[in-house]
Amino acid sequence: MRMRPKKNRATRLDNVKELFAVTTEDGKIDIPASFGEESNISIEIGCGKGRFICGKAMQFPDENFIAFERVTDVNMMAMEKAFAAGLTNVRFHNGDAKELCNLLPPHSVNTIYLNFSDPWPKKRNAKRRLTSPLFLEMYKGLLAPDAVIYFKTDNIGLFEYSLETFAECGYTLSNVCYDLHNDAVLSANNIQTEYEEKFSEKGFTINYLEARLK
Ligand SMILES: C[S@@+](CC[C@H](N)C(=O)[O-])C[C@H]1O[C@@H](n2cnc3c(N)ncnc32)[C@H](O)[C@@H]1O
Repeated sequence: MRMRPKKNRATRLDNVKELFAVTTEDGKIDIPASFGEESNISIEIGCGKGRFICGKAMQFPDENFIAFERVTDVNMMAMEKAFAAGLTNVRFHNGDAKELCNLLPPHSVNTIYLNFSDPWPKKRNAKRRLTSPLFLEMYKGLLAPDAVIYFKTDNIGLFEYSLETFAECGYTLSNVCYDLHNDAVLSANNIQTEYEEKFSEKGFTINYLEARLK
């Protein structure tokens, strides 16, 4: 179901415009000078309303974050959250993650966060899953040496699928966990996303893994 466009969208977007990731003529994101070294960037794909990426940007004020979200109004809410918090180390790109390799310099990303990615349960839509081989191969071109992908989801079907695709695509998995909130070590610095809070309150356990290139 499509969301009705938010009222005053143009004004609201204008209010937070400084937080947009600016793209240059060649279509690449212009990494803000304030971000310093280009090779120190963490990204979240499908940031939703932004609680997680804002939490990370607050937790690590010396690190830099770019959030990607394809739904304009959802992205706008995330930007408003970052703006209200006065964050300067995060930028937002409104668009589809399939364009990522055209948007960022090769091997410039230290961390990818995939939080509660859409499960696309039908087989015919499997290519859209952010942990499909198509995406996992694309991420390889973005990841810096020793980079990590952090993935969490309440959806066990997507999680089990992803365990297979990460392995198939040559990633090494660690800290694979089927109940993140009951793991004292792994959940110590966990920032709950909006979806995570909603679904864990409904009784779903949260699955979690870390993936690195061999
Ligand atoms: C289930 S929601 C989770 C949102 C947020 N990460 C959370 O945990 O609260 C998935 C989000 O990913 C976004 N998304 C899904 N596929 C995407 C893609 N290919 N590119 C950019 N955003 C995407 C959706 O628009 C949606 O906002």
